Amino acid sequence: MSKTPPVQTNMKGILLAGGSGTRLYPMTLAASKQLLPVYDKPMIYYPLTTLMLAGIRDIMIISTPADLPQFKRLLGDGSQFGVRFEYREQPSPDGIAQAFLIAGDWIEGCPCALVLGDNLIFADHLSVLLRAAATRPKGATVFAYQVRDPERYGVVSFDETGKALSVEEKPAYPASNWAITGLYFYDNRVAEFARQVRPSARGELEITDLNRFYLEEGSLHVDRLSRGCAWLDAGLPESLMQAGQFVHTIQARQGMLVGSPAEVAFRMGYIDADALRAHAAKMGKTELGRMLRELADQG
Ligand code: TTP
Repeated sequence: MSKTPPVQTNMKGILLAGGSGTRLYPMTLAASKQLLPVYDKPMIYYPLTTLMLAGIRDIMIISTPADLPQFKRLLGDGSQFGVRFEYREQPSPDGIAQAFLIAGDWIEGCPCALVLGDNLIFADHLSVLLRAAATRPKGATVFAYQVRDPERYGVVSFDETGKALSVEEKPAYPASNWAITGLYFYDNRVAEFARQVRPSARGELEITDLNRFYLEEGSLHVDRLSRGCAWLDAGLPESLMQAGQFVHTIQARQGMLVGSPAEVAFRMGYIDADALRAHAAKMGKTELGRMLRELADQG
């Protein structure tokens, strides 16, 4: 199997893994949602691989003061995956756009992507889509996906030419059934724009308000994910189970790994076969360990 050549991007990435996870009580009373298993891996591995597939190697993990130490224990400094991790606390869940204030000095003047820690995206040629977004010099890129329950999400509507017309957060009467997924790419003005976002009626710094800055200047690119793609947010017991079943089905049926940072690191050329073997050895006799060893042997 061929390795993907690394993309040239100075983009940084934020993985937002805080929140309260109330819809998963009691599972999240004593554990972080993003550490719950999605089949054979912790949930955070999936959005992490999404950022890595975009060619992003500087990644900040933001979580609650209580949960952050567990993420450090799981992920370390990133060297095992050939990337660099930074960690910062979000004292309370005051909104997704707050991530850009918490990371403000770290991202100042840099383009930056953000992925939500409970969002899983699977698609053919995903890395092509992601790398196009990561290397776009100006504006923002978001991904839209058709859903049955758009009122739960940020919703984007389009004009007859397919250009984005409006973005609205959890509208009572959605203008379309296109939900905006939890993966966002912004140019180097994002920290500056984020500082201008004001709390919404529910008291949160809304990512939709940040997206509206870009929409209003005509630089919000919306990539519509086709029906061959799967976007799952694992925030409910049912969607958590569906995500696990999905990963199991692909891995068992096709023998392909989903959501393995070690595999992605190897394919991107961030780690060599020996490092992949060392990682596989840590996984012991698991099926994941076997699949990683096989990949290292194939070269
Ligand atoms: P949500 O699902 O909106 O919120 P939640 O995770 O707290 O769950 P619940 O609604 O069940 O109480 O958050 C989406 C993702 O964004 C999730 O991974 C948590 C993360 N998040 C933060 O880290 N900080 C925040 O301030 C918000 C609003 C979300």
